[in-house]
Parts: sequence; C-alpha cells; structure tokens
Amino acid sequence: MANTAKFWDRMAKGYSKRPVPNQEVYEQKLKKTREYLNPHSQVFDFGCGTGSTAILHAPLVKHIHAVDVSENMLEIARGKMVAENIKNITFECANIEELDVQDDTYDVALGMSILHLLDDREAVIAKLFDILKPGGVFISSTVCLQGVMRILLPFLAIGKFLGLLPTIKFISRETLENDLITAGFQNEFTWKPDGSDAVFIVSRKPD
Ligand SMILES: C[S@@+](CC[C@H](N)C(=O)[O-])C[C@H]1O[C@@H](n2cnc3c(N)ncnc32)[C@H](O)[C@@H]1O
Repeated sequence: MANTAKFWDRMAKGYSKRPVPNQEVYEQKLKKTREYLNPHSQVFDFGCGTGSTAILHAPLVKHIHAVDVSENMLEIARGKMVAENIKNITFECANIEELDVQDDTYDVALGMSILHLLDDREAVIAKLFDILKPGGVFISSTVCLQGVMRILLPFLAIGKFLGLLPTIKFISRETLENDLITAGFQNEFTWKPDGSDAVFIVSRKPD
C-alpha cells in the first residue's frame, strides 16, 4: 500500500490541474447525488483526491468525512477548502482497505473513481454497507474496463510490479452490480454515460 500512496502522491499536482474529462457528465452526477443530500446528511467520501467533489457538496450537508491514501492529494484539498471558506469537511489520510469506521454512522457514502483501484473491492463494499445507516445510500462511479482493453493487463501488472502504476482492476458493470447486491445493497439507479467507461450507481442499504 505504501506504493499506492507514493503513486498518488506523485500524481497529485497534475491531477489537481487536470479538467474533468466531461463537464456535462460530471454535473449530471453532482445533480443526481444532490437528490440524496440534505442539511442533516453525514457524508463519507473515500478516495476523495483533491476534494473537488466534497467541496462542491459541502454547503448542502452537515458534515463530510473525506478520506484519501495520499497526503499530497489531501494537502491540495485542504488548501481548496480554506480558499472556499468551507468548514464542514474533515480530511483524513487513510487507506480505505484498512480504516476502521463505526457502523451505522453515515447517510451517504461517495466512492468516485476508486472501486476499480482497490485490492479487495468486495471487502470495502461490505464495510460501506456496515458504516451506512439503514436507508443510507452508496453512490459510486467506477471505471469498468472490459473486452479489448484486457490486452492492457500484462502492461498494468508490469507497471504495478515496477511501482509505476497503482492497482487497476478490470471489472464489468454486471460484476460490480452483483458485488453491491451481494453486500446487501439494492441498486436503485445505474447510468453509463455514452462515450464513458465509468458506471455511476446509486445503491441503497435497506431500512
Ligand atoms: C482517480 S482518483 C479519484 C479522486 C476523486 N474521487 C475524484 O473523483 O476526482 C483516486 C483517488 O483514490 C485515492 N486512493 C487510491 N487507493 C486508495 C485507498 N486504498 N484508500 C484511500 N484512497 C485511495 C488516490 O490517492 C486518489 O486520490
């Protein structure tokens, strides 16, 4: 995991300057997410990166606990939070695969562009199920690479071995949807925007 943190530490500055790949799609995801937010919402955002999404949602909720494995990403996030005069986000440097969080704590969990980067996705999804309150929602956007893209697998393995790349898993949309159902979630909204490899899913922990 030290390699993962190092990789994302190296990426942080460039990542913060890169525009979102498709602004219209990003805004649709923000809009859909906001249907589940209210001034009482306790939100958990893991793999929060430089905090852009958390900072945009912060004025609409009570508190956001935002976690990332990269201290460099979080340093940028904290700077943006101060610049925007946002006070209700707590940024924490932690590996989601190791983090202990109390059960039944959050109303909404956000996992944006992160599930495909985890070693044990199923365990993290199970943890999210536990830490959400009954009726809470897990909103994720996950790169689902399939088919011809599998020719990249050997390059990804070599890149990871050399410490040049993080874990990148190939997951199909069906596998991801099934992983969520296996953990106990009910998937109530799925959207794969045209021309994007990312699948956006809203999953609910039953009451
Ligand atoms: C592709 S970026 C996505 C950032 C942000 N969620 C967004 O949508 O812009 C992935 C982020 O997940 C973080 N990350 C990767 N593995 C992680 C882990 N095991 N625990 C916590 N954060 C992790 C990286 O440091 C990076 O900031």
